[in-house]
Amino acid sequence: MNRRARITIVGAGATGATAAHWMAQAQLGDIVLQDIVEGLPQGKALDLLQSGPIAGFSNRVVGANDFEATSGSDLLIVTAGVARKPGMSRDDLLQTNLNIVRSVTEELVRRSPDAILIVLTNPVDVMTYVAWKVSGWPRERVMGQSGILDSARFRAFIAQAVGVSMEDVTALVLGGHGDAMVPLVRYAYVGGIPIDRFLDRPSIDALVDRTRKGGGEIVSLLKTGSAFYAPGAALAQMADAILRDKKRVLPVAAVLAGEYGEDDVVMGVPVVLGAGGVERIIELELEPEEREAFARSVRSVREPIASVRHLL
Ligand code: 2OP
Repeated sequence: MNRRARITIVGAGATGATAAHWMAQAQLGDIVLQDIVEGLPQGKALDLLQSGPIAGFSNRVVGANDFEATSGSDLLIVTAGVARKPGMSRDDLLQTNLNIVRSVTEELVRRSPDAILIVLTNPVDVMTYVAWKVSGWPRERVMGQSGILDSARFRAFIAQAVGVSMEDVTALVLGGHGDAMVPLVRYAYVGGIPIDRFLDRPSIDALVDRTRKGGGEIVSLLKTGSAFYAPGAALAQMADAILRDKKRVLPVAAVLAGEYGEDDVVMGVPVVLGAGGVERIIELELEPEEREAFARSVRSVREPIASVRHLL
């Protein structure tokens, strides 16, 4: 791309604004921050823009209430919707956020017909499915963010438990972004060494459990909102992979069409992420126990999809 990339972020709440911050800092492109609340995206965009001379970036950052400003974007990111409050599951947000994601997607795709779309709004697997159906786009160009966040949580917990740098921990979380997600212990490494060389099974199980409940842990601490730094950073990593055509191997909520024996459902799986979006889905050989956990996670996403399918 021989012009600066154009990124639209819908939703100027904590996550959208934080994602914009990470992306501006990484100089990924010009950013349009869109939100229906008057003044909110404009104010946050102006503030972020004014950090440029200090932080050392010169990308354009603008705020808008209308969708015209999003026209011709290369990358569309949907964070709009209501967030979880204590005691709510991600699925409790289903009805409200479905209406938001549906109308936002319609507005976006007709103004940026060649873009790639990433959904963050919860319940993210279902909302990604909604956006994919509403857009009518090939599945490669519509995806959700969750696996990078869940894997980062697992990595951070492992690093803390082992007492090493987070940089040296790799791990992979498969499945939906709910309590049935599947942190793959077999694929967790510290400096290339399997984690069971450092931690016993009960300690690993405790980290897996904390990872599964990682979002809820933050919701119960914040009380009036949910996580935003790590979700924003995860979005920026995906934007970097796509806009710079990096072909990164990252877990992404992708539409499956036969992979992992599943069809017509969105699941977190490792993919090759580049300029074409989800350029390839990487299929792993799962052990019986992992396969069972993956199937459970698929069921937990299929159920809410079935309940809203008639609305799409
Ligand atoms: C999280 O896991 C809110 O789903 C978001 O933090």
